[in-house]
Amino acid sequence: MACCAKIILTISTIFLALNFKTLVEGAPEVPCYFIFGDSLLDNGNNNDLQTKAKANYAPYGIDFPNGPTGRFTNGRNTADFLAERLGFEHYIPPFASTNGSELLEGVNYASGSAGIRNDSGSHLGDRIYLDRQLKNHKVTISRIADLLGNTTSAKKHLNKCLFIVGIGSNDYINNYLMPEIYPSSHLYTPNEYATALITQYSQHLRTLYEDGARKVALFGLGQIGCIPAEMQKHNTRRCVGSTNDAIQLFNSKLKSLVGDLNTNFPDAKFTYINMYSISSVIGVVSVLNRPCCKVLETMPEGQCAPGETPCLLRGIYLFYDNFHPTEIANRIATNRAYNALLPSDVYPVDIRHLIRTNSVYDE
Ligand SMILES: *[C@@H]1O[C@H](CO)[C@@H](O)[C@H](O)[C@H]1NC(C)=O
Ligand SMILES: *[C@@H]1O[C@H](CO)[C@@H](O)[C@H](O)[C@H]1NC(C)=O
Ligand SMILES: *[C@@H]1O[C@H](CO)[C@@H](O)[C@H](O)[C@H]1NC(C)=O
Repeated sequence: MACCAKIILTISTIFLALNFKTLVEGAPEVPCYFIFGDSLLDNGNNNDLQTKAKANYAPYGIDFPNGPTGRFTNGRNTADFLAERLGFEHYIPPFASTNGSELLEGVNYASGSAGIRNDSGSHLGDRIYLDRQLKNHKVTISRIADLLGNTTSAKKHLNKCLFIVGIGSNDYINNYLMPEIYPSSHLYTPNEYATALITQYSQHLRTLYEDGARKVALFGLGQIGCIPAEMQKHNTRRCVGSTNDAIQLFNSKLKSLVGDLNTNFPDAKFTYINMYSISSVIGVVSVLNRPCCKVLETMPEGQCAPGETPCLLRGIYLFYDNFHPTEIANRIATNRAYNALLPSDVYPVDIRHLIRTNSVYDE
């Protein structure tokens, strides 16, 4: 039984890999694609950092062609599936190991345990928080300027790229929801905290705009009250309502921010991806409240225990470890971000329409 299930999974992985190849004849829908965020999007930036927030060991990557790479899931993450949907021939490489002309197609800056706030996730060790990700992007821009001749050409190139940003989960999970380590919940009400995060986030998005971004998708937060780690902490098998309420405050302010950015920067297009509702109705998975892998009970608590065999039926689990979705959940969520199923999935447009928006900079 064990052997056969594994073979079926391997065959389906090969099939998907072939499928990817045949899909990507011709140029991608955008010439370049940049990724900012946390462990939901990280593909190896933490591998050489001093941190416990790493995923470059088995059983992470068990369904990924190259095995464990630093992706916090069994297979591909949302950044990978989006690269496939856009028609790229390869996944966007991590900033930590990218240089030369491949920078022109995009870079992934995402870092596990990173937040909008500098201090989020600090108890786990080093992390590339949003401010540092934007500084790394400036390094990329100067390298692109070297490649293309000058900064003007570099920014013109960036005007045509897709940018996605998915950050904020760690400002809750590894900050506000850890009152024993971080002071934020003593200093702010949930509403004040969400406002403070969005204020900081909006400054970073302005920087991204000034640095040439014109097509930007902002991923809202999923139902953090329903992740296994949060339910365990509250000793319940139901979603933690107070946590989800706090998350919804953040999401609704992020959605308003998207409206403001679109008004203030008419030559750019921002869109909000409603991961909160998208992640709540992932139909094919039936195991919703426990992880697929055996998780650690000591720090980094809730991540997969190294070397342990995970569940076999990874296609029916929503969570791989106590925090992160399985590949199948990432695939379904990406499909809806790219091509919305319900009007509530995105605001105002899905990624498919975002990238077809003509900016004045398009040639
Ligand atoms: C990347 O390439 C640039 C030249 O384009 C060079 O100055 C820089 O040192 C390189 N960085 C790394 C990390 O290799
Ligand atoms: C966050 O860190 C950056 C350096 O990466 C620093 O310039 C900035 O002032 C810090 N922000 C806060 C709010 O502490
Ligand atoms: C930048 O490079 C482009 C293409 O090589 C050139 O047309 C343009 O004049 C340059 N701009 C500046 C400010 O040097």
